[in-house]
Amino acid sequence: MFPTKVKRLLQLRNTLWGCASLKAHCSRLVLGIETSCDDTGAAVMDETGKILGESLHSQKEVHLRTGGIIPTVAQQLHRENIERVVQEALERSHVAPSWLSAVATTVKPGLGLSLGIGLDFSRRFVRQHNTPFIPIHHMEAHALTVRMLQPVPFPFLVLLVSGGHSLLAVARGVDDFLLLGYSLDEAPGDTMDKVARRLSLIKHPQCSTLSGGQALELLAKDGDKSRFPFRTPMGQTYDCCFSFAGLRNQVNMAIMKKEAEEGIEQGTLLSCVKDIAAATQHTVASHLAKRTHRAIVFCKENGMLPSSNPTLVLSGGVASNEYIRKTLSIITETTGLHLLCPPAKFCTDNGVMIAWNGVERLREGKGILPPTVNVCYEPKALLGVDMSAEVRAAAIRLPSVRIKIHN
Ligand code: KG4
Ligand code: ZN
Repeated sequence: MFPTKVKRLLQLRNTLWGCASLKAHCSRLVLGIETSCDDTGAAVMDETGKILGESLHSQKEVHLRTGGIIPTVAQQLHRENIERVVQEALERSHVAPSWLSAVATTVKPGLGLSLGIGLDFSRRFVRQHNTPFIPIHHMEAHALTVRMLQPVPFPFLVLLVSGGHSLLAVARGVDDFLLLGYSLDEAPGDTMDKVARRLSLIKHPQCSTLSGGQALELLAKDGDKSRFPFRTPMGQTYDCCFSFAGLRNQVNMAIMKKEAEEGIEQGTLLSCVKDIAAATQHTVASHLAKRTHRAIVFCKENGMLPSSNPTLVLSGGVASNEYIRKTLSIITETTGLHLLCPPAKFCTDNGVMIAWNGVERLREGKGILPPTVNVCYEPKALLGVDMSAEVRAAAIRLPSVRIKIHN
């Protein structure tokens, strides 16, 4: 047996050989950095889409305890973790900064204070290592993630649903999107998080570490949605935009009524939390399904999707929800589309999806900037060309579709 010191030297030699051969074989490597909301993520990827190393720090538990994301707290946590997260991603991939062909970083949309930390770090990093910089639109990254996992040719329809966004768009190319609809107020994940907070689900033994959306999904499995027949939003508006604030109001009214009936104070768990969870989840799913159905009809009428194997991609944190996936699958079966949904770990925010977006842009030579260029972050930024007025003008009436799913 080798003495420990020799063993270590051999290990080091193997690592260096591994690195040298990696450098020789992988022509181009991209570092992706994500800090748009409450996850600090980084990943190194080669040009084929292979993940060489990644690291993710989630702030979820801190924000659950404070009852929602406080931007200054999110900023401080990104500041405390960004260097370590990037370092870990590089170490796990055995890649030196000087070998990178580009650094891709989310610069829009998102929380300004959070975006600023990722952008400042990246700016210093690319200047120090003289690496090209690729600014990334967070929703473009969510939309393209599926192409890292399997070949999905353009154009395809995409429904993105998260804590900060909901939108329907036709993806025609890496940087070419037609926006059919978006949320007029809050995002479905935000609504589910707020309903979960109003129900004090953090006090529920099964839900204390879950995000609001995850908690509602879990409780809904044993709930009876018919006990709270909430109205699906925007029934009289024949477009593809979304609205969830009115639904939250309906749910809050129902909770207040039940609290009065049961004679309990806000902050105490209601006996009917499971039924409220099931009804909320069902109404969110129905709203998403109806707007997506109209988007599919609009695309078909205007020849915007291929006639062979047209595809709907569903992604973003809320797309982890099985009930929502099943509901959307009823719509795609009815309309002859193929539904694709990345696994949950790629639906929620991470550095990998940003690195992949960087790879897609690098391959096509799109949006690659010199290290010295000055880029600013943008908290608000639509994805692509806004076609929502054309969709509204088409005023498409939908045939009714029976959505029957066992929780
Ligand atoms: O994409 P994401 O990680 O971050 C944003 O860009 O917002 O999405 C986070 C959101 C949260 O609102 C969370 O409650 C929701 O996704 N979410 C879910 C589920 N898992 C996460 N919503 C419904 N069902 C789930 N299983
Ligand atoms: Zn996201």
